Amino acid sequence: TNPNIIFYLAAYLVGGIPFGLILAKMFAGVDIKQSGSQSIGATNVLRVVKQKNPALAKKLAIATVLLDAFKGIAVLLVAKLAGMPDATLWAIAVLAVAGHCFSPYLMFEGGKGVATGVGVLAFMMPDVTAIALVVWFVLGKTLRISSLASLGALAAFIVASYILYPDVPNIHSHAPIWIIAIVVVYKHTPNIVRLLSGREKRVA
Ligand code: G3P
Repeated sequence: TNPNIIFYLAAYLVGGIPFGLILAKMFAGVDIKQSGSQSIGATNVLRVVKQKNPALAKKLAIATVLLDAFKGIAVLLVAKLAGMPDATLWAIAVLAVAGHCFSPYLMFEGGKGVATGVGVLAFMMPDVTAIALVVWFVLGKTLRISSLASLGALAAFIVASYILYPDVPNIHSHAPIWIIAIVVVYKHTPNIVRLLSGREKRVA
């Protein structure tokens, strides 16, 4: 059998693990799919758990970002050590984000792909991701709107990827980046609607 298939399945199945949902339920006894933005990511962990326990909320949110980022990296790392070529690694990166956003454990619902996307993109393009992370941090600190910081960082990532890697076919093809970007933007549809009508809430 083609070993790529094992990695593709693993990427989707591991990417789909909803760490935010699990941690919030385990440690705070709340169901983040039923409150806040109903997303399973760190932002919603922070938002929902905060109402019960602000100190715990911060810790759980940080743990969620790290685990959501690490799950994609973990599959990529194993695939890379197994000698998989870059094209396969990029497909794994896309599938890990897809797993997070359309989780097989949540009837294909899930998160918005930001932490998992940052993880896999950091693995594939560390220099470009570093730039995007600076933008994310600065926007987050100044605007304090999680979704806007994420979308701004995503835009910065795309622009920076073309500047640093204008055309390196098969190695740094931009197609996987666009697929990840479209999934992330699509998942932010409710946020974008709220942003455009000035109703998107700040993270206090
Ligand atoms: O990282 C997700 C963020 O961009 C938006 O999350 O819960 O505010 O919709 P949320």
